[in-house]
Amino acid sequence: MFDIKSIIRPNILTLEPYRCARDDFKTGILLDANENTHGPAIPTPDETELALELNRYPDPHQLELKQQVIDFREKHPNKYTKEKLSVENLCLGVGSDESIDMLLRCVCVPGKDKMLICPPTYGMYSICATVNDVVIEKVPLTVPDFQIDIPAILSKVKSDPNIKLLYLTSPGNPTGKLINVDSIITLLEELLNCWQGLIVVDEAYIDFTEPGSSMSTLVNQYPNLVVLQTLSKSFGLAGIRLGITFCSKELSWYLNAMKYPYNISSLTSNVALKATKQGLEIMENYVSKITEQRDIVLQKLLSLKYVGRNIGGLDSNFVLVEVLDKQGNPSNEVAKQLYNTLATGKSIVVRFRGSELNCVGGLRISIGTEEENKQLLEQFEAVLNDINQ
Ligand SMILES: Cc1ncc(COP(=O)(O)O)c(C=O)c1O
Repeated sequence: MFDIKSIIRPNILTLEPYRCARDDFKTGILLDANENTHGPAIPTPDETELALELNRYPDPHQLELKQQVIDFREKHPNKYTKEKLSVENLCLGVGSDESIDMLLRCVCVPGKDKMLICPPTYGMYSICATVNDVVIEKVPLTVPDFQIDIPAILSKVKSDPNIKLLYLTSPGNPTGKLINVDSIITLLEELLNCWQGLIVVDEAYIDFTEPGSSMSTLVNQYPNLVVLQTLSKSFGLAGIRLGITFCSKELSWYLNAMKYPYNISSLTSNVALKATKQGLEIMENYVSKITEQRDIVLQKLLSLKYVGRNIGGLDSNFVLVEVLDKQGNPSNEVAKQLYNTLATGKSIVVRFRGSELNCVGGLRISIGTEEENKQLLEQFEAVLNDINQ
């Protein structure tokens, strides 16, 4: 049976979390944290800046923000949810990128343990693993539907006890495809009894798909499940760097113990508190505009002579399309040329993804505003026709 203590690195298991000055006393003449009590060195702080007390260290626990995130996620719980989330299930990070790194440092012994990914997928998993001296193993997503290959994953993790993390990106990047919830449940249940490892579901794009698709409300039922979310996408807040890890209370305790105590700045939490309450309607409005535009952009792209398949799915805020050469074959050469000319000649920047597994000729296009999309479509067609003349 899965036991979280058996996979947490011994140095983390015995870690005494840093005790902040503010954990002891919160009010009075506070001369305990070596802060500058005169105030922040900015010329004329506005009301908000003053209220934020930027000369003070931020709150290491962020309980109000965590509760708001929970309230938001529990509005559309996964249909299998049986238990409520609590603030003890959450750990906040400097974007999902910090959460990815933290999980690696928590369970993978450098030079020994491994992480399993399912390409094509988000590039930071490999980078973080390499930085932490953790070997990457791969089980590709199935083609053409970009779902997980359950038998291959089961056989891989069962045959290699050094694999400690399995990363699933749902919806995927660059695939734009939600991974079937029942498939993830199958893996969670199968592996709970025979694998000492964590299934991490990265849900950076979850708000662009059907409500209720998130696995985040299931972490109390599956101690081997971790879900990552971010305010960088649907909330339009990539600049504040806020990532959320949902997991069992036990694992969350260790993650919170090992994180830098002041990783979430007062500026970040101030904005995040607004976004996850008063901002929800705005976010939902953005999401519906983006998904509406996504369908229009895709339809138009697919009607072009030198665009082949929609390689990916429609669960994210981007599309992944196949660029063809004159003969009608998917072509990385033409895709790269198109990408370069659009960026340097037309100031329209998309992403070449043709080197990713099973994405030959692939360009990934984030869905912009209606006006941005209009310009993209015009130039995309003109430049592509020109290249294939
Ligand atoms: C799948 C996936 N996860 C995580 C991230 C990074 O999120 P954050 O901005 O919260 O670090 C991205 C960014 O593109 C992503 O595509």
